[in-house]
Amino acid sequence: MKRKYVMALDQGTSSARCILYDRRGRQISVAQKEFRQIYPKEGWVEHDPMDIWSTQIGVAQEAMLKINATYNDIDSIGITNQRETTVVWNRHTGEPVYNAIVWQCRRTADFCGELKEKGLESLFREKTGLLIDPYFSATKLKWILENVEGAYESAAAGDLLFGTIETWLIWKLTDGKVHITDYSNASRTMMFNIRNLQWDSEILDILDIPKCMLPKPCPSSMIFGESHSRIFGGPIVISGAAGDQQAALFGQTCFSEGEAKNTYGTGGFMLVNTGQKLVESKHGLLTTIAWGLGEDVYYALEGSVFVSGATIQWLRDELRLLDDAAQSEKMARAVPDTAGAYIVPAFAGLGAPYWDPYARGAIMGLTRGVNKNHIVRAALESMAYQTYDLMNSMAEDIGDAIRTFKVDGGACANDFLLEFQSDIIGMSLCRPKCIETTSLGAAYLAGLATGYWENTDDIISNWQIDRAFEPGMDEERRKELIEGWHKAVKRTLEWAE
Ligand code: G3P
Repeated sequence: MKRKYVMALDQGTSSARCILYDRRGRQISVAQKEFRQIYPKEGWVEHDPMDIWSTQIGVAQEAMLKINATYNDIDSIGITNQRETTVVWNRHTGEPVYNAIVWQCRRTADFCGELKEKGLESLFREKTGLLIDPYFSATKLKWILENVEGAYESAAAGDLLFGTIETWLIWKLTDGKVHITDYSNASRTMMFNIRNLQWDSEILDILDIPKCMLPKPCPSSMIFGESHSRIFGGPIVISGAAGDQQAALFGQTCFSEGEAKNTYGTGGFMLVNTGQKLVESKHGLLTTIAWGLGEDVYYALEGSVFVSGATIQWLRDELRLLDDAAQSEKMARAVPDTAGAYIVPAFAGLGAPYWDPYARGAIMGLTRGVNKNHIVRAALESMAYQTYDLMNSMAEDIGDAIRTFKVDGGACANDFLLEFQSDIIGMSLCRPKCIETTSLGAAYLAGLATGYWENTDDIISNWQIDRAFEPGMDEERRKELIEGWHKAVKRTLEWAE
C-alpha cells in the first residue's frame, strides 16, 4: 500500500515551511516559522545555518504532529530552497565556519567588477548561463575562503564542505552521509557547466576554489538517501530537490516548452521552460537548468528581480503605511492611479534585465497631492512593471513562444496586482487554486522518484485554475505608463553611476 503523504520542505529567504501533500496535490498539514535575518553592514545579508536547520526541522515535526502522522505515513521528502545562498561547514564537526551568505548580499560586487574588467563575462556566460554578479554563489564562497581564518587551507585539505541550502539540509537530514546538489541548484552557483553537467575546472581555477569541497551534482528527482531515524522516529526517503523557482515551474506543471510562470515572493522570478534546449539570452536573462528527470535535463530562461513583494513589507515595516500586506489591495483601489508617482525598488541593486549591483531604490514623480494610497499603488505597480520588463526580454529571446503564463507566490492573492499585470503585459494570465506551487513542485519531484505519482500526466490533472485575468487597458495609456516606468529606472541607474 502506498504511504499517505509526501513531505515538502520549503526553505525560503524569510521563513521555513513544511507542507504535507496528498496524491491529489492537496495540502493536508502546514507549518511555518520565520527566522532571523542578519544585516551586518549596508548591502550585506546573512542567515545562521543552524537556525535554518532547526526552524526547518521544527516545522516538519510540527506539520506531522498536527495530523498525528508518523514517519510511516510519509512516502518521501522533497526539498526546495532559496537558491544561491552559500554555506560552508566542517565535515567532521558539522559546524558552519561562517554564517550563510544570502543571495541578496552584495558584498562581492567589487570582486565581480574585477572579473568583468578582466573580460571574463563571456566565458562565465557560455559555461554557466549566468552573468557575473554577486547574486550567485561562487564569489560568496570565495569570500568565505579568503576572509575566514584558515578556511582556504582547511578546504584544500578536504575538511570543509560547500553547499547551497538543499545540500546543507540533505547533509543534516542524513546525518552527514550524503553530500549532493541537484542540477537546478548547481546551475545557480556560477561554477557549474550547464552543458556537460559538471563543476567547471577552468572556473574553479580562476576563482581558486578547491573542487573537493563541492557536492556531487544529481538529477532533481531520485533517491538521494534517507533521513536519520532520530529526526522523525524512523527513516524517510529523500527523493526530490530543486531551487525554489524551478520547483515552482514544476509545481505549475509547466512541463512543455513555452510554458511560463511568474512568482511574486520576496523577489520576483519569471521562468519559461525551453525544453531540452539551452537558449542563450541577448537581453539580460539567465539560462538555467529547470530540472533533471532521469536522464533528461530541461532548461529554462529566467528573469530574476531581487525585490518584488518585499516592497510591500518595506512599506509595512519601515514606513508603516499599512498594518498588513493584504490591505494594499484596498488602498491601491482607493485611488484611480498613482498621481504620477513611481517606485523603483532597487534596494538590493537591480537584477534582470538591468543588472546593476550598485543601483538603489527611489520614489519618483512626487507632487504635493501624493498620499499613502498612491505610494502603495505605486509599489504594487512596480511589481508588475518589473515583470513586464522580464516578459519583454523573454519574448525577444524566444520569439512569441510564451504559450501560457501562470502566476503564484504570496502576493498573487492580490487581484489588483494581477489585473494591472495583465493590462501592462497585454496578455492573459492564470492563477491556480494552489498558489503554493514551490512546495508542491518539490513534493512532485520526490513522489515521482518513488512511484507515489506514476508520471507527469498523473500530476497535470491536479492543477486547477482559480481565475484567469484578461487585459483591458487602452493601448495609449499602457504605453504612457510603461514610458514613465522606464524613465524612473533610467534615473535610478544614473544615480548609481
Ligand atoms: O534566487 C533567490 C530565490 O531562490 C529566493 O526565493 O522565494 O526565498 O524569495 P524566495
